[in-house]
Amino acid sequence: MPITETVPHSVEWNETYITVLDQRKLPLETIFVELHSIKDVWDAIVTLKVRGAPVIGITAAYGLALAASRYEAESIEEFQQLLEKDREYLASSRPTAVNLFWALNRLSTSVKGVTSVNEAKTTLIHEAICIQVEDEDTCRQIGEHGLSLFSSGDKVLTICNAGSIATARYGTALAPFYLAKERNIPLKVFASETRPVLQGARLTTWELLQAGIDVTLITDNMAAHTIKAKEISAIIAGADRIAANGDTANKIGTFGLAVLAKHFDIPFYVAAPLSTFDPSLPNGEAIPIEERKAEEVTRLNGIQIAPPDVHVFNPAFDVTPNELITAIITEKGILRENYSEEIQQLFR
Ligand code: MRU
Repeated sequence: MPITETVPHSVEWNETYITVLDQRKLPLETIFVELHSIKDVWDAIVTLKVRGAPVIGITAAYGLALAASRYEAESIEEFQQLLEKDREYLASSRPTAVNLFWALNRLSTSVKGVTSVNEAKTTLIHEAICIQVEDEDTCRQIGEHGLSLFSSGDKVLTICNAGSIATARYGTALAPFYLAKERNIPLKVFASETRPVLQGARLTTWELLQAGIDVTLITDNMAAHTIKAKEISAIIAGADRIAANGDTANKIGTFGLAVLAKHFDIPFYVAAPLSTFDPSLPNGEAIPIEERKAEEVTRLNGIQIAPPDVHVFNPAFDVTPNELITAIITEKGILRENYSEEIQQLFR
């Protein structure tokens, strides 16, 4: 079996429902749940059953196509009105990962010139499937470009989960490791646990171990010491939104790792598809940062670990300024000079 097929698809279209891997239950249980309504899809995204920028977009696209397949609209105008309402509803699930809005807008645009309700329904389903199929290819390209930056024996630190289950397959930041494994290039991955909800400890280690990739888990506060003690050669992270100047929002803690990379004079890479870029925002200041429930911080695996009434600040993401990013790895190649100009060229 090819390496990447050791990790299951985290989302699957089944005509009348969507199946998703419940990422909250990993690694203790590998449970797939069925989403039968748009409310199920919204809820799965909000509660992190489905998480990771590209797969949030894919799931939302299927959710919109599923909802639209049931409209009893008598005219295309009525269909478009219902679609817009549902698009807005799904878009309200999470604010930071731009792939969500990108995928929903792509679906709306796909039916702009369509004149019959039936054709619109099949067009939406087709478009959602295309988004998933294209994402797999995109991630493999990111993996190819990313791998060109690493050498045999490198030790690479990553944060959160920007892996296969966060995308259609391969992942973004983890894609180079899958390709290295396929080609017998030894790389060592260090995964930062990623408080508060432990995507690194629960998800990155789970999927890399299944593929036989050498992965070592550390807690977040061990990063500086580990970079020094284990001679980490590079840091690689995914992204949730990249502004026009290259400033990058990703899981909380990423900015701190980029500062450490500068201190230790090692490269800090961001890996992301073009669907994660938001050239409409001039810089990272304009990226909306999601704040989540206090319980994610005061509880660990359902167990209270802090006084329940303590004040909590729980931002889910931070923004790494472009000057701390050595290169941005995309499916179209590696950006590493003047991000503003290179991003403008990519979207011209
Ligand atoms: O809150 P999450 O788990 O959805 O945050 C995910 C991340 O920050 C990932 O690094 C990012 O979405 C890239 S996934 C390929």
